[in-house]
Formats: sequence, structure tokens, C-alpha cells
Amino acid sequence: MSPSVITVENKESFCQNLIIQPPQCGLSLKGRIKVPGDKSISHRALMLGALAQGETQIEGLLLGEDPRSTATCFQAMGASISELNTEFVRVNGIGLGNLQEPVDVLNAGNSGTTLRLMMGILASHPKRFFTVTGDSSLRSRPMSRVVKPLQEMGAQIWGRKGNSLAPLAIAGQNLNPIHYNSPIASAQVKSCILLAGLSVEGETTITEPALSRDHSERMLRAFGAELSVNPETNSVTIIGPAQLHGRHVIVPGDISSAAFWLVAGAIVPNSELTIENVGVNPTRTGILEVLAMMGADIELLNEREVAGEPVADLRVRSSPLRSCTIGGEIIPRLIDEIPILAVAAVFAEGTTVIKDAEELRVKESDRIAVMAQQLNKMGARVTELPDGMEITGGTNLTGTDVDSHTDHRIAMSLAIAALNASGTTTINRAEAAAISYPDFTPTLQQVCS
Ligand code: S3P
Repeated sequence: MSPSVITVENKESFCQNLIIQPPQCGLSLKGRIKVPGDKSISHRALMLGALAQGETQIEGLLLGEDPRSTATCFQAMGASISELNTEFVRVNGIGLGNLQEPVDVLNAGNSGTTLRLMMGILASHPKRFFTVTGDSSLRSRPMSRVVKPLQEMGAQIWGRKGNSLAPLAIAGQNLNPIHYNSPIASAQVKSCILLAGLSVEGETTITEPALSRDHSERMLRAFGAELSVNPETNSVTIIGPAQLHGRHVIVPGDISSAAFWLVAGAIVPNSELTIENVGVNPTRTGILEVLAMMGADIELLNEREVAGEPVADLRVRSSPLRSCTIGGEIIPRLIDEIPILAVAAVFAEGTTVIKDAEELRVKESDRIAVMAQQLNKMGARVTELPDGMEITGGTNLTGTDVDSHTDHRIAMSLAIAALNASGTTTINRAEAAAISYPDFTPTLQQVCS
């Protein structure tokens, strides 16, 4: 690789441009890489650690901006959390129900998981008052999906636009158990209700229309909570009040971060990448099923279980891809991977249809609109659907100026598309990648060298 294939340009206000200029003869990607810790599991380890009695040790925590927001919020409520690092973080929990009233607004930054999960915890802390907010993206994301069930449990919550947008104010209460039928399959909604149910006397149940990621269920059990799961109805019941005990958590690599390398390795000719230590929890492996359907050459090696989560090394070799239709129950199992799957579809033969994914419109950005606009700027043929995209593959992409819209997964997806484009692509506001993958650019440089 010539050193100029990947360049970073620092701009004003901490913004960065990522400039990608593949050589005319094309790239091939090689190597063994490690991806950072799973974002969902990192948040939950910090939160349960803060609520448990005794010490929790976390190995492999994601050092991205989002888990940092979680750590800062819980420190502000009295939890003692050692300096964040990937090796070993100690959390000295203060026991369920013992969070202190913070003296200032709790800021969840860009992180929907921090805000929505934390709201279940705060709403069930009687006699404390909390105010919560986030950055401009988070302040525009719908919170009624957690406010409504929490209010059904007796929570007192106020916010903008009929209590649906942050900043929000919460007066903690003794809550009542409910059975909530969620209209959406969302692990954030499910986890919020389960966390609220921890301190409620009796059975709190949530039923969702399709199964979403189950990291909360696994970790709550591991910390000592009593939980029952009905897989027939996608229902989870927590029996409260619970007692949580600190424990050792090992966070596997994030399959949502590995997804960028899986697609890169599949679409860039003559590539072979091995991604080590990736979490392959079945509620997250929709990406592997879809890439297999598209003809990708991906092998799971060294499959094992680490601290209650399945883990494997993933090897990808480039191969021709074909289009497919993605929709229905698989959507919650690959929701965060749709931007990078759209990139795979651009390089696949035929027309790929992504449907039932309207949730993408309320992520860190409107991922349907933004991916369609940005890929089309590069010469792709992507049509927006109300609930997804139609992507006709087989066009050649040409490098140009694109923008992440400050969305981490958009920044990284566009970088992977740029590896297979001719000419120079400049990804504006690429610093957003640090939300979930602070070392994305150095890893990109490593695999391109
Ligand atoms: C997450 C759940 C998903 C996912 C998000 C992380 C979690 O959101 O998109 O990145 O950790 O619970 P939804 O619950 O809104 O689907």
C-alpha cells in the first residue's frame, strides 16, 4: 500500500475527514484483526455493576464514547468506577435502589442505550429527582417507547413534545408490575422495563413482536436476578425485588464492528481477513445469515462460550455476491448492520430489497435516507422505501465527498464502500466512528497495508 491510501485530516471543532484513495490496480485486504468490545454488553456490565452489591470486574470493555457516557452518568449517582481501559475495569456497586440523586443533568451523549436503559433504573428509584439529556441526535430520538410503559408502571416523567423527547425529568417512584406488549422489537425497550422491574415486587413481563438481542437477560441472570423466558411468545418476566451481586464479566468483540470487515473482506477482491474473538450470540448473527445467503465465504472458527456469551473467530475470503431480500423477524437480529449490508448489496449482482426496517429512520441518523443519499453520490443505485431500501448492484462507484451525518455506522460503512471505488473518497465527520470503534482508522490502515 502507498502510505496515502488512508489519510486523516483534522478539521475545526474536533471534526475529521477520512480520505480513502485506493491504488489504480485495486486493493486486497489481509490480516488478523481484533474488534473492540461489544457495545451493548459494555453498557450492561457498567450498569449492572453499578447496581450490584460488591465488586464487578469487566474485561474487554469498549472504550467508545457511548460506554463512557454510561460510566459518567453512573459515577454521578455514586457508583465507583475505575479508570476505563480494555484490560480490567472495577465497578464498586452501591446496591439496588441506592443510587444517589445527581447534582446535575445526566448527559447520555449520543447513546440511546444509555438513556433508555437508565430511564428504567431512575424511574424506579423513589424519592430521587433526575434530569436526563443527550446530544442533538439523541434529543431528536423517540423516548415515548420507554416513557409509555414506565408510566403504566406508575412512573412520573416529563419532557418535551408530550413527554416524548429529551431533556426529560424523572421523579423516581415505587413502581407496579405490568405485562407490557411492546409494539416494537427493541432490546432497549425490553431492557428498560426489565431494569425497572428489578426493584418492583412481583412479576414484570415484556412481550415483543420478534426476538431482540438478549444480553440483558443473560447478564441479569448471571448477576443473580430471577428471570423466566418464554421463547414461544418472545416474553421475558423478571421477578422482583432482585438482589444483584457483582461478578466478573468478559466482553466479547462486537459483531456489529466485525461486520465492516466481513463486508470489506467479501467485496474487495483477493482478500482474506480473520476477525478474532467475535460475539456470535444468535440474537445478533442475522448479518452472518444474510451474507451467507448472498454467497459470502465466511467461516466460524474456534467456536466457544466465554462468560455466558458464544464467541468465535470469523474468517472471510472475497467472493462474488448476489442480491437477496431482507425483512421480517431477522431485522432485529441485524438492525445495526443494515448500513454495511447496503454496501454489500451495491457490489452484489441483482436487486436487493431491505424491508420492515423503519426503525432505521430513528437511529443516530435516518439511516435509510442518509445511506441512500451518500451511496448515490458515489454512483450507486439505491432507492429509499418507507421501511427500507431497494439497491441495484453491479454499478461502479466513484470516489467523491460524502458525509457521516455524525453517525458512527454511516462513517464506517462509507469507508468500506470507498475501498472498492475508483478515485478519492472524502468522508466528512468521520470522527463519529469513535462512538463504537475508536480504532477503526488504524485497523483500516493495518488491513490495507
Ligand atoms: C441496542 C439495541 C438496538 C440497537 C442499539 C443497541 C441495545 O436498539 O440498535 O445499537 O444495546 O439494547 P433498539 O432497541 O432501538 O432496536
